[in-house]
Amino acid sequence: MGAVPLQVTMNARPYLHGPEAEALTEALQAGQYGHSAIVDRFEQAIADYLGVPDMVAVASGTAALQLALTTAGVAPGHEVIVPSQTFCASIHAILATGAHPRFVEINPDTLCTDAANVRDALTPKTRAIVPVLYGGRAVDLSTLHDELTRQRITIVEDAAHAFGSHCKDTFVGARPGVLTCFSFGPIKNLTCGTGGGIIPRTPPEAQELRTLRALGIVQSQTQRAATTSYTVQEFGLRATMSALNAAIGLAQLEHFEKVAAKRQELWRTYADGLHALDGVRLVDVDIDHTVPFNCVIHLTDRDRVFAALRASGLGVGVHYPPNHHQPAFKHWHRPLPVTERSARQLMSLPFHPSMNRDDVQYVLSALARSLATETP
Ligand SMILES: Cc1ncc(COP(=O)(O)O)c(C=O)c1O
Repeated sequence: MGAVPLQVTMNARPYLHGPEAEALTEALQAGQYGHSAIVDRFEQAIADYLGVPDMVAVASGTAALQLALTTAGVAPGHEVIVPSQTFCASIHAILATGAHPRFVEINPDTLCTDAANVRDALTPKTRAIVPVLYGGRAVDLSTLHDELTRQRITIVEDAAHAFGSHCKDTFVGARPGVLTCFSFGPIKNLTCGTGGGIIPRTPPEAQELRTLRALGIVQSQTQRAATTSYTVQEFGLRATMSALNAAIGLAQLEHFEKVAAKRQELWRTYADGLHALDGVRLVDVDIDHTVPFNCVIHLTDRDRVFAALRASGLGVGVHYPPNHHQPAFKHWHRPLPVTERSARQLMSLPFHPSMNRDDVQYVLSALARSLATETP
């Protein structure tokens, strides 16, 4: 084999279509870097794309989760059900509200939680559930909706990976009764550089989120500019999205379909090649409905293969070490045997839209060679 192709040395990277640079320059020259009309336009464009009435743009996916949980009434004394198999941001967002996480098991084939696992984890303190749409796959908890509504429990879904995915025929973000949180971070399906967004369930909820993201000030930026005062109605954060990030997001959205198709094609190419490899199990993202964020496999000899591939220059990764074993979250540890077994076997393959089929074949060949090498 020759030199490692550049694209497979990275596990993930942003994909730029071209117009982002011009959009960013225009926004820089416009001179309003905080909330501006560009952010309003980005919010409307995302809402239109998903076919929903509104979207509230915020500074990050983590902020989106924290603000959505707060708006759902999550507060000290409450528990929030969340899989341990997620990025630590999901857990920090819960702790930021003063509530505690209650870690829940996943289905090892999808790395997502499901209705049965969630039902088992409910306690009288449960106030919200944060299903994580791992890899972009939708999580359908609709069989629990009536029960959850009766108990005043809100579903705040962590759709950081899932912009553009569907649950059956409906866009993630467009299902009634669910507060959906997206990340528009650097390597997400749609990037703003950094950023996040919440799909509110009602107009009052949207208003509340806009107040919370702007330091509790009820007047909009435009209203504030035209008056001698403003009202700080309640607690709030500085969590607005910058116009610079919104400008990048608007330029990205124009070409999103291309990226979505590319991600699906790459994932399918991996799936076709991985069939032939013994001892490798692909995490199932429900590809026909999903814009995949990553391509993740289980393999029994993970640590050895991971080290060998990294040593040969391949950008393999592990997403994510389980949170219930992290020192910061140890207080809420409980045994999760399925998560623990799965976590020892996970490996993410290089996956981003700048790759092509040859890059995928290169990774597959390197993986096959590494699997064929005996453990010393
Ligand atoms: C599953 C998950 N949730 C939440 C987040 C937080 O998003 P952000 O980085 O935009 O704050 C991430 C970011 O990688 C994530 O992967």
